[in-house]
Amino acid sequence: MNRDVAKRAAANAAVALVEDGMTVGLGTGSTAAMFVNALAERVQQDKLREVTCVATSESVAGRAITMGLRVVDLINEIDLAVDGADEVAFPDLRLIKGLGGALVREKIVAEAARRFIIIVDSGKLVDRLGIHVPLPVEIIAFGAEQTCRRILSLGVGARFRSLPEGGKVISDNGNPIVDCYIGPERDVAWTNDLIRAMAGVIETGYFDTEIERVIVGDCSGTVKQLIAPAKKMVCRDVN
Ligand code: A5P
Repeated sequence: MNRDVAKRAAANAAVALVEDGMTVGLGTGSTAAMFVNALAERVQQDKLREVTCVATSESVAGRAITMGLRVVDLINEIDLAVDGADEVAFPDLRLIKGLGGALVREKIVAEAARRFIIIVDSGKLVDRLGIHVPLPVEIIAFGAEQTCRRILSLGVGARFRSLPEGGKVISDNGNPIVDCYIGPERDVAWTNDLIRAMAGVIETGYFDTEIERVIVGDCSGTVKQLIAPAKKMVCRDVN
């Protein structure tokens, strides 16, 4: 499969959702980078004049600025955030993200966004999360080895993400990342809750954040849009 064609198709479909005056959250990763390219192109063509961006990593901030986009700090709500994912569970649209190491900022931006859109190629759709990719977990540097051992004690495979030349990968926030191998026997949501409850764990790459839609590109350049199921209505008596 030509994944670049698929990723670009999804990115282009997402750019069509951007309106002038919006604050747009920029995700991290190769698919999100294609969205940045497409957004910059529309701005250069003068089709969008007043778009402001919030970046989920230093690398995407640099790329966006180089391409002429206006990047600001996250202070106010974001109108539309567009990001990639490592796995998308279908049909419930939960995600694993963070193989690019930007999971904490990505989750903050997702939660600050009125509309959160995911763009992926069709190879990212799965029945169950966490079987083919690890769950990334950002932890505090203090006591990191001990925190990693505590994750291991849950019966989950866990190892520090490392650089090819040796040494730990350090996030933009200055913290190490532990990749956790959940496997088919364990439920990712349940395991995620146990990991998140540990002191020293900052955030995980499990996203059950409200997603408006997932735009899925395929190698022929066509897209389909998976719309999140409507929220359940809960009615309560007030007296
Ligand atoms: C970055 O931290 C990740 O969450 C990315 O969104 C994810 O790894 C997808 O990246 P690609 O689009 O490069 O597959």
